[in-house]
Amino acid sequence: MALREILHYPESLLKQKSLPVTEFNTELKQLADDMVETMYAAPGVGLAAPQVGVLQRLIILDCSTSEEPNDLLVAVNPEIIAEEGDSLEEEGCLSVPGYWANVKRHAKATLRYQDINGNFHEREAEGLLAIGMQHEIDHLDGVLFVDRLSPLKRSIFRKKYLKMLKEKEAENANA
Ligand code: NI
Repeated sequence: MALREILHYPESLLKQKSLPVTEFNTELKQLADDMVETMYAAPGVGLAAPQVGVLQRLIILDCSTSEEPNDLLVAVNPEIIAEEGDSLEEEGCLSVPGYWANVKRHAKATLRYQDINGNFHEREAEGLLAIGMQHEIDHLDGVLFVDRLSPLKRSIFRKKYLKMLKEKEAENANA
């Protein structure tokens, strides 16, 4: 296993659509293992392949709870086949470090996906896991959570975030 570099907004690759996985080979297993290690090291609760620069439809999520410990979900070609209710919860993203905002999502979701060997599964979820599924699938379609904010909030985000990036750059230059 190896850590992979997580791409940050405004990296253009994050805006691209990922392709379906067609080969369930060792390369795919390696990618999934690396993503798991990278997510836990960050630390985060979800990661999509394009965030580590690979435009393939693969996401991982760990929204373990006390009732459901060690709940690592590795989902290839994930699709939401049913959704219900509304939720408005604060989200963040490993590709947008230092920024959090409330995002409208569905409260419940049913995910259809393939495991790392290509077998099909379905999983119903609510709460954090349902939100995570929607957030990570968005990544596969080139959508970040900040793209789901109102135009006003998005422009405030952009200004704040780009200013923060410049300050970081200046700090690094002085270091
Ligand atoms: Ni994200």
